Amino acid sequence: MLPQHIAIVMDGNGRWAKKRFLPRVAGHAKGVEAVRRTIEACLAWKIPYLTVFAFSSENWRRPAEEVSFLMDLFLSTVRKEAVRLHRHNIRLRVIGDLEGFNQTLREAIRQAEELTAGNTAMTFTVCANYGGQWDILQAAKSMMRDGIAGEEVTKERLSSYLALSYMPDPDLFIRTGGEKRISNFLLWQLAYTELYFTETFWPDFNQAELEKAVACFQSRERRFGQTSEQLVKPC
Ligand code: IPE
Ligand code: IPE
Ligand code: MG
Repeated sequence: MLPQHIAIVMDGNGRWAKKRFLPRVAGHAKGVEAVRRTIEACLAWKIPYLTVFAFSSENWRRPAEEVSFLMDLFLSTVRKEAVRLHRHNIRLRVIGDLEGFNQTLREAIRQAEELTAGNTAMTFTVCANYGGQWDILQAAKSMMRDGIAGEEVTKERLSSYLALSYMPDPDLFIRTGGEKRISNFLLWQLAYTELYFTETFWPDFNQAELEKAVACFQSRERRFGQTSEQLVKPC
């Protein structure tokens, strides 16, 4: 079976650039092409949900020039790609603490989300100024604001307050760039996700790399706490 939801930590842009004696930000610019290729491959496979980590709550700690380049790149990409996504019947969602962004970027995001809101081929979610801890915290705060009592807090209810509540949890997590960590991505939603790590830097990621990840996913036995024997279905 193909994964229905793939979540990706797009890492290794800076090292990709450094290897080519280019400034780090050249890797970010090149990374946009890899996003486009990945969307196309998922669309061709009819994978309904693709979620990518574009900017973490912690990435503000980078040098100001890099942060500013990323914001400009985000703005120009959202503006440029919205129409293309729309043409492919793809819905765009941006999740994270958008209050951290300037008004121009927020407005561009709002317009792109509005334009693509009715699209049904695939939901492409960008996590920006996102952190798994932020997400759980904002869910807890919203529940309290709604006056939900402690004993009424269930797993399902808390899930429904999280930023990704409108889709199933990821089946496959991919992290490029070689690091083996979650870096505050979808902490709650990755509870039973199959994890795949590759040394490939994000700007080099392509359909062949995605196929490798999916093949690896397909070789896994997902037990969700049960035993192998229990999973063998009687004929
Ligand atoms: C990931 O690539 C992109 C962002 C975090 C915005 P990096 O910029 O982290 O690349 P490396 O890890 O330094 O190579
Ligand atoms: C994770 O990458 C965040 C994104 C890909 C947006 P980082 O490069 O920021 O992660 P750390 O700091 O190495 O854990
Ligand atoms: Mg990195």
